[in-house]
Amino acid sequence: MKGVILAGGTGSRLRPITHTGPKQLVPVANKPVVEYALDDLVEAGIDEIGIVLGDKGREAIQAYFGDGSEFGVDITYIVQGEPLGLAHAVGCAREFVGDEPFVVYLGDDLMRDGITDLVGDFDPDKYAAGIGVQAVDEPSRYGIVDIDESGDVVGLVEKPDDPPSDLALIGIYVFTPAIFEQIEALEPSWRGELEITEAIQGLLDDGARVQSHEVHGWWKDTGKPEDVLHANRLVLDAIETDIRGTVEDGANVRGRVQLGEGSVIEAGAVVRGPVSIGENTRIGPGAYVGPYTSIGDDSTVDDVHIESSVTMGENEITADRTVVDSLVGRKATIRPNTDRRPAGDQLVVGRNSSLEL
Ligand code: G1P
Repeated sequence: MKGVILAGGTGSRLRPITHTGPKQLVPVANKPVVEYALDDLVEAGIDEIGIVLGDKGREAIQAYFGDGSEFGVDITYIVQGEPLGLAHAVGCAREFVGDEPFVVYLGDDLMRDGITDLVGDFDPDKYAAGIGVQAVDEPSRYGIVDIDESGDVVGLVEKPDDPPSDLALIGIYVFTPAIFEQIEALEPSWRGELEITEAIQGLLDDGARVQSHEVHGWWKDTGKPEDVLHANRLVLDAIETDIRGTVEDGANVRGRVQLGEGSVIEAGAVVRGPVSIGENTRIGPGAYVGPYTSIGDDSTVDDVHIESSVTMGENEITADRTVVDSLVGRKATIRPNTDRRPAGDQLVVGRNSSLEL
């Protein structure tokens, strides 16, 4: 089976972070969100992977994964260009997948338990498609499915006002090539997109069967900053200690901590896991790095109390401040105001930034 990762989309809900890079490269515990999808495909035995790219951040994703050999896979890049919807993105992969069943994974979704069971469960002789589902609190935000007692899907609807159930499509699909005819017949939805949900409904309308697979481990769509922070907490909850850098004598480190190569936790610094620290980063003597924090590569953190936050890398965070529940973009700095004239916080705040002071 081949795998297709959808990595287009504009990332509008993650601005300003996505002004400078694609949402799929936003790090969770120091690993880009989209790499979790790739790892799950590999774990399910899939090593031929197509990545469908939008215009946004295309080069950055290609530069990160290259031809895939470093990740033990063979990657083909497929350019979607304009973001015309998930079904359009899947349709772009037609030539790549050929005549075999294939897996589609939304590149900004994270799943605790991976996709091995879901993929192994799928029987292409009986079903035209298989979908991962999970009960959600706000069904009107998702694609929602109605199933019968055997788990067969009887209907699907995208972001319903009046949801038939609370079972959401979680962004992992197994398709037979029958889906492509359905995609060709689609018209844009009310939100101007070709909806994969409607293409799957088309399979049902033509008499084909669609299998559901309920996923029990947590699942997270990382569309918004608070989702990234939540996903970071979920992933850090399960990390093991892994110290590749240096913890100086006199540093106060407790709990599970990952420390990348070339990084140092200096004497006097306090780190309370679970925490992930990238490579070549300095945690200075005045720093307190609290639970559920991921600090990116090539950064300096000192004289600050930071917790439950994600910093993306190349950051200098040295203000005498407490930073919590924050997402700090690449190369952003939070420094002290040294001349005190005028007194107060001095800010350089980009478009779509949000500060809660
Ligand atoms: C998309 C799908 C929806 C699915 C969701 C899962 O929604 O259209 O069916 O439930 O992903 O994350 P979107 O993220 O485009 O709002």
